Amino acid sequence: MTTSTSTSTSTSTSTSTSMSTSTATRPQAARPRHVCVVGGGYVGLTAAVGLAELGHTVRCLEADRGRLALLQAGQVPIHEPGIAELLAGQMGSGRLRFTGDPADAMEEAELALLCVGTPPRPDGDPDLRQLAGAAAEVTVVARRDLVLVVKSTVPPGSCEALELLVAGAAPEGVRVRVASNPEFLRESEALWDFFNPDRVVVGAEDDGVAQQVAQLYPPDWPLLVCDRRSAELVKYAANTFLALKISFANEVAGLCEALGADAGKALAGVGLDRRIGEAFLAPGPGFGGSCLPKDLAGFIAVAGSVGAAVPVARAAQVVNQAASASIVAKLSARLGTLEGARIGLLGLAFKAGTGDVRDSPAIALARELVARGCTVWAHDPLAVVNDEPLVQVDDPYVAAGGADALVVATAWPAYRSLDAHRLRGVMAGHVVLDAVDVLDASAVQQAGLDGYGVGRGRPTTFAPVPWRPLEWMLGPVEAAAAPSTRTGAAAHR
Ligand SMILES: NC(=O)c1ccc[n+]([C@@H]2O[C@H](COP(=O)([O-])OP(=O)(O)OC[C@H]3O[C@@H](n4cnc5c(N)ncnc54)[C@H](O)[C@@H]3O)[C@@H](O)[C@H]2O)c1
Repeated sequence: MTTSTSTSTSTSTSTSTSMSTSTATRPQAARPRHVCVVGGGYVGLTAAVGLAELGHTVRCLEADRGRLALLQAGQVPIHEPGIAELLAGQMGSGRLRFTGDPADAMEEAELALLCVGTPPRPDGDPDLRQLAGAAAEVTVVARRDLVLVVKSTVPPGSCEALELLVAGAAPEGVRVRVASNPEFLRESEALWDFFNPDRVVVGAEDDGVAQQVAQLYPPDWPLLVCDRRSAELVKYAANTFLALKISFANEVAGLCEALGADAGKALAGVGLDRRIGEAFLAPGPGFGGSCLPKDLAGFIAVAGSVGAAVPVARAAQVVNQAASASIVAKLSARLGTLEGARIGLLGLAFKAGTGDVRDSPAIALARELVARGCTVWAHDPLAVVNDEPLVQVDDPYVAAGGADALVVATAWPAYRSLDAHRLRGVMAGHVVLDAVDVLDASAVQQAGLDGYGVGRGRPTTFAPVPWRPLEWMLGPVEAAAAPSTRTGAAAHR
């Protein structure tokens, strides 16, 4: 097959109905298969439910006993809108079943989708041991020729490495091939993303294998077929680019603060350019979650392993690390000292809509504030944290109660309707740092609170901002004839 990249981006008339997540209009896969999905987390559970909806018979293998017990009882261990309903329907239809036994999971499977975690190691390199374990576990009990489909996010070369690793582990007469089919879902929108993909990427070294994987999905979904290394890189590079956009937004935000400009408006204007797009261009406390920091680190690690320089990706990482430090510095400047301060923290999840706190900037912020001598009282509508050095309460006004400063770190829509006067009434101090731009800034101000954001500069008449442009306008000759201007510029620098 194919080392060249072929694309098919059909725009058939059924597209609008196939974009729905309603079962009544659900498109079907070209050919129903017996599929084993390994891992019942965000990716595996979404794939298991989604593939069953598309007509496949799915057995989902989950190693965590607690999680498995919930799934077998028809309960969903993660917060993901819509999954519970589809899960109930597909378990009822007999097309979806959960098991902890690899032999049971693989009884009829022709394809096994590996959806296990690939967390970062402490040094940032990817830890692929779960993946290797899962691949070996299903290979040894395969009953027929098997395609291992890697949906986990992995560095380029991993599919080839897996093939080497499982060679010889398969029962006699069983041939195992490995394909890449990276997952692009967003937590809290997982089902929508599954049924409405921007693209299905299939990386295989053989046309037959590529077809088998592609046929898991309806024929009119946008499909990119390529070699395995390219497919693996699509996911790493896409997440690196998204991380880059967020870091760039934070860089522009820093510049806006120094210039007395408004990053919200400036970045909105940038994002309206169709070549750029508005998604992921909001300033804030930096990117987090289980994917962007990990995949950016993985991208850098894999580049390092082959001696390729990736300074742009490295810069995104550096800027992200500075994002939460800049919020701490702002608080410190407003409060005079952080030692002994009480901080109210609104939001713990890495983004709104999910209870996932993996690598959450809000948690990193809380830890840093506590390390600097603060006490943190935090609220989140969904996320629950244990073993963090903070007091978690179930009411945002309680989190704000007695606080010297209030920080909003996750853009939950519910925070938009907080009553600024009530906040002012319960807080001990008056500093509000809205890092995710959800509060009504004018209501905050009217309530007598001192509101700050990320990237919201405060223009002053005497800001030095216009002096250099003036010099650049006058040019060296004219500037030389206007010594007072030059002196003024120098004085303000
Ligand atoms: N979460 C996301 O938004 C997202 C999006 C795209 C890609 N990904 C990638 O997909 C992969 C999975 O991510 P996730 O968020 O679903 O992880 P997760 O931690 O939510 O789920 C992984 C599941 O696999 C199970 N598991 C591990 N080893 C197993 C084994 N040998 N047999 C059976 N079950 C096993 C775990 O118990 C867990 O339930 C990662 O590589 C991640 O980077 C995640």
